[in-house]
Amino acid sequence: MDAVRIYGGKSLSGQTKIQGSKNASLPILAATLLTDGICEIENCPDIADVYHMLRLLRSLGCQIERRGDVIRVDTTRLSECDMPADSVGVMRSSIMLLGALLARTGEVSMEYPGGCVIGKRPIDLHLYALRRMGVEIEEGETAFCAKASRLVGTVQELPFVSVGVTENLILAAVLASGETVIHPAAREPEIQALCEFLICAGAKIAGAGTDRLVIEGVEKLHPTRFRVPADRIVAGTYLTACLCAGGRVFLQDAPCAHMESVIACAERFGARLGRETDGLLVEGRADRRLEGGLTTAVYPGFPTDLQSLFMVVMAVSGQDGFIEEDVFENRFRIVPELVKMGACIQIAGTKAYIRGGHSLHNTIVEAQELRGGAALVVAALAAEGTGIVKNRHFIDRGYEDITLRLRELGAAVELA
Ligand code: UD1
Repeated sequence: MDAVRIYGGKSLSGQTKIQGSKNASLPILAATLLTDGICEIENCPDIADVYHMLRLLRSLGCQIERRGDVIRVDTTRLSECDMPADSVGVMRSSIMLLGALLARTGEVSMEYPGGCVIGKRPIDLHLYALRRMGVEIEEGETAFCAKASRLVGTVQELPFVSVGVTENLILAAVLASGETVIHPAAREPEIQALCEFLICAGAKIAGAGTDRLVIEGVEKLHPTRFRVPADRIVAGTYLTACLCAGGRVFLQDAPCAHMESVIACAERFGARLGRETDGLLVEGRADRRLEGGLTTAVYPGFPTDLQSLFMVVMAVSGQDGFIEEDVFENRFRIVPELVKMGACIQIAGTKAYIRGGHSLHNTIVEAQELRGGAALVVAALAAEGTGIVKNRHFIDRGYEDITLRLRELGAAVELA
């Protein structure tokens, strides 16, 4: 069955190693297309989204080899610029191939990308910004075709901050003629990682990690070897598992420097956290009220990808509180499932109000997207009785063997 079984009500104790970052691996794998030769990407997580990205790269003619956590991508012979619709449709990062392929081959046709159902998630800004670099785009019902004989550097003043648009523009700009300015650029650590990879490959990028990127196009990039950083969202997920179930866990390799807003929030809930050189120590259970609620924002603000997980923390803390989702308009899909487990939550526009004092009990619930699915597993750890979270495939998109990792932390969970 495509599910996770959880025996709830057990406090945690143990340690686990945090996997490489999904949101850094995907654009970096797309970026290998900009080089001509063999790139080696270390610490790539073994998750479904990486599998789909590799499948897309193979369909374009890349030779792929996986040895442990190192993926070798040989981009010497690209043959196709059409991609399998089922892999494009399953994840939003397939849009990353657009900027990279335009730079490498000048022509792409693809289905509109999929991904988690957490809002409208249009690609209008991607297409608008690429058109400004000289790309001609024909939009059909289910697919579109983009062509550029030459990508031209330009000043991109964007109407809002977008992670994906910033990444796509970086990929299009590194081999474009002239200078591209991206403002406001997203500052997520995954964008810094993409810039570091490209700089290692010979790109000229200034301002990585700031809201203004200046990219000077170069003639050519060379293949390189690069290590993907640890996944701050996965580390945040296991942190919330401890906050909900209680106990003491060590998250080896957790990227503390990129988790400041998350660590600060966990401390406000009453947990004790220790930033070690090789990871993050988490101790205690959430039992305090979060004055002023929690609002998601672009980095370095509180990540929307951990919103549903902290909603669970709030629901089990026994205190009233609210969460405001300011990045995606439909990211409260776990609320009905949490209500089935006994939580008292009401949604009003972009805010969810959580009432304390309602203890959770386990039952059968359904994951509907990646982070919400992980949040339901975390909720079940803190709930009484035995629970089932269905649709594990959503969780597998971004988590390497979540049941094994949680067992390392002392939880009683298994595949079902
Ligand atoms: C990336 C992350 C995702 C994270 C999100 C916000 C990856 C693979 N995914 O998604 O995990 O939740 O950043 O941190 O890295 N928008 C438009 N038009 C566009 C593009 C975006 O309206 O053309 C809107 C989106 O609907 C959303 C907002 O902009 O409301 C932010 O989205 P964006 O930052 O682009 O997120 P993604 O890159 O899709």
